[in-house]
Amino acid sequence: MIRLTTLWTPARQAVLLIALVACQAAAAGPEDDRKAFVAYFQARFPDIPLAEYVNGIYAIDQDSREQWQEIEEFPPYEFAVEQGAALWQAPFADGGRYSDCFVGAEPGVRQNYPRYDLATAEVVTLDLAINRCRKKYGQAELTFGGEEMLALSAFMALESRGNPISIENPAGNPGALAAYEQGKQFYYSKRGQLNFSCADCHVTSAGLYVRADRLSASLGHPTHFPVYRSKLGNMLSLHQRFAGCIRDVRAKPFALQSKEYRTLEYFLTYMSNGLEANGPGARK
Ligand code: HEC
Repeated sequence: MIRLTTLWTPARQAVLLIALVACQAAAAGPEDDRKAFVAYFQARFPDIPLAEYVNGIYAIDQDSREQWQEIEEFPPYEFAVEQGAALWQAPFADGGRYSDCFVGAEPGVRQNYPRYDLATAEVVTLDLAINRCRKKYGQAELTFGGEEMLALSAFMALESRGNPISIENPAGNPGALAAYEQGKQFYYSKRGQLNFSCADCHVTSAGLYVRADRLSASLGHPTHFPVYRSKLGNMLSLHQRFAGCIRDVRAKPFALQSKEYRTLEYFLTYMSNGLEANGPGARK
């Protein structure tokens, strides 16, 4: 069984969590959810500036922050970014280009994804948009979590750095709102043999240790993907990370880019609205 080392009094933690859940239950919509989510972490970690949450655990843990800053001096994701830039520039066989598929023909669009697509009534992530583009120009789709997809999304993330995450409020459309609610429900549902929800680790226990790892806050989680994981020696997508956490609670992971993960990403990214896109990232 996983044991969480309590650095923070359970009573105060309970009060904040009850406040968060009550706010979200009574909430009029996603924007109230987001405000309650942000307020929870700000009350919990009053010394951490809001803009810092994009750095995951390094916003909370000063010791590992220094090691991470050293790693960032020679970014381990640079190779993926270069490969992604070359892929972005190469025209398809029929003359089409990736730039034909994105607003302003620019690669720096990370902050606008995922978005709810009215035409197909589904959540479109950046990875899905990349494959839709390829399909439009008669190209074989890339494997989700594969080298080329990770390289392209790493390049697009780098080009998007500094842009504030700008997900349209799902409340404006019933389909979008339903997708958002689905993602939110997934986030708060207990799962696996350990019976943990995402929130059990990344809200209630943020800052605490689980085995050797200190837990980051979910606020800011989607801003820096894909990431280079030094433990694995390769790039990793956000959905691969979701799958890793789901496996850790001994539940069966879903397919990358499944509806479950796309709606989860939609909810989580909306929670981070306004924070800066800062991918690609480097993590242990
Ligand atoms: C048993 C505790 C636990 C649960 C439950 C859990 N995670 Fe994690 N998660 C971790 C640990 C440990 C890490 C690595 C340290 C860190 O960055 O928090 C991590 C890292 C992550 C990261 C990467 C953070 C970064 O800065 O790159 C994301 C994203 C994430 N988890 C999402 C989720 C989601 C979504 C769920 C629910 C499906 C979930 N986690 C459930 C323990 C958990």
